[in-house]
Amino acid sequence: MSELEAERRARYQATVVQEFLRKTAEEGDPYAAILLVPDSPYPLYEQIRARGTLHRSAVGAWTTASHRVANQILRDRRFGVRTAEGAKPPEFMPFDNSMLGLDPPDHTRLRRLATPSLNPRRLAHWQPHVERFTGELVDEMLAGRDQVNFMRAFAQQLPLRVIGDLVGIPPRHRPLFFRLSRRMAYLLDGVATVQAARGAAAAIEEMTAMFHDIIAERKADPREDLISDLLPAVEDGRLSMDEMVPMCMFLPLAGTETTVNLIGNGLLALLEHPEQWKMLVADPSLAPAVVRETLRYDAPVQQYRRIAHTDVELEGELIATGDEVTICAGGTNRDPEAYPDPERFDITRDPGPENLAFSSGIHFCLGAALARMEAETALAALAERVPGIRQDGPVRRRGSFIIRGMLQFPVALR
Ligand code: HEM
Repeated sequence: MSELEAERRARYQATVVQEFLRKTAEEGDPYAAILLVPDSPYPLYEQIRARGTLHRSAVGAWTTASHRVANQILRDRRFGVRTAEGAKPPEFMPFDNSMLGLDPPDHTRLRRLATPSLNPRRLAHWQPHVERFTGELVDEMLAGRDQVNFMRAFAQQLPLRVIGDLVGIPPRHRPLFFRLSRRMAYLLDGVATVQAARGAAAAIEEMTAMFHDIIAERKADPREDLISDLLPAVEDGRLSMDEMVPMCMFLPLAGTETTVNLIGNGLLALLEHPEQWKMLVADPSLAPAVVRETLRYDAPVQQYRRIAHTDVELEGELIATGDEVTICAGGTNRDPEAYPDPERFDITRDPGPENLAFSSGIHFCLGAALARMEAETALAALAERVPGIRQDGPVRRRGSFIIRGMLQFPVALR
């Protein structure tokens, strides 16, 4: 098939899917409407909840926006991220040999190997780095123009700098690493054209080659970073290179695209609720409460899914072996059964049960404490050093139903 023909076919298929979603959404299916990426998915989560704690969308998947039911499914070992036979769902990412794409026992083995690099002792090691990077970024922002796109000038920079150090990317590879990370990030929004798919595949190939180089370098000169931590496991056969490289690639993606939007969504919520921004300016030690409430109110990862490994009866429904369940985390975080007056952003609220922004059960985010620490440091520093910051134009959101965040967030600094 010629390149032009392949491109035409991909566009045709994407149009057919969009048409199907549009028609299904018009017929009143809230999940189909969510897949069309509206500006706000929150009213649609309410519609899902109104249809029951577990609702089968005409798109095929079961959906839940109930905090209780989602939590139960995430902790239920009858559900996994692959099929019971170990097959990946069709549109899985090519690098999803990472732990997030695996069920036990492989998941358990990989998670155990990566955990020490993100334990509290290591976090204490990274804290001063995060503070220094944050300070430098605020300096750079204040030294420039009065108006900036906050996402580009600040939010996108901090997590990449942190993860570069944590994983162990040498300085000379950083520019390429940053470029490829951004290209791969668009994978999370779904790949609609052949050209985009090729771009993503090429980025993965380049990133793989880069990590092979870095791993060889670290073998000769180990340091305090994730790659060095994992090398003994490669040498004694607990970890294959086919697992190590996806792990190194997955972490930058898991650790940046999410944290970037936690910082962005947090600042946006604060500036839209100026009385709460003033509270943070008066007392930056409120930053952990701000971050917790942002994760609940506007979660950077809005949904993830599980596959039934066996027939499961739940909430009066039969989920058959192989059925998919979409956990609408953004919706579960606004479930009135778990959080009173859930539509209200309120940094002083009683926290209630742990929200599902970082998932629950065996895939609970391994970087949750790091992400919180980065966002808390960032928002506290902004409140201290840029108290007059304000929104300065309309935001442009990212076109993704999984990742909720902005591409453009114009702010005036003074
Ligand atoms: C605000 C920032 C973040 C959010 C909202 C977030 C969210 C999530 C969610 C929802 C999952 C589980 C998905 C599922 O259950 O299917 C997950 C898993 C994971 N996250 Fe995060 N994440 C964030 C930051 C980070 C950071 C900074 C790192 C690492 C440096 C990281 C590393 C991981 C890893 C390794 C997993 C897979 C865990 C497993 O499968 O056992 N994340 N994250």
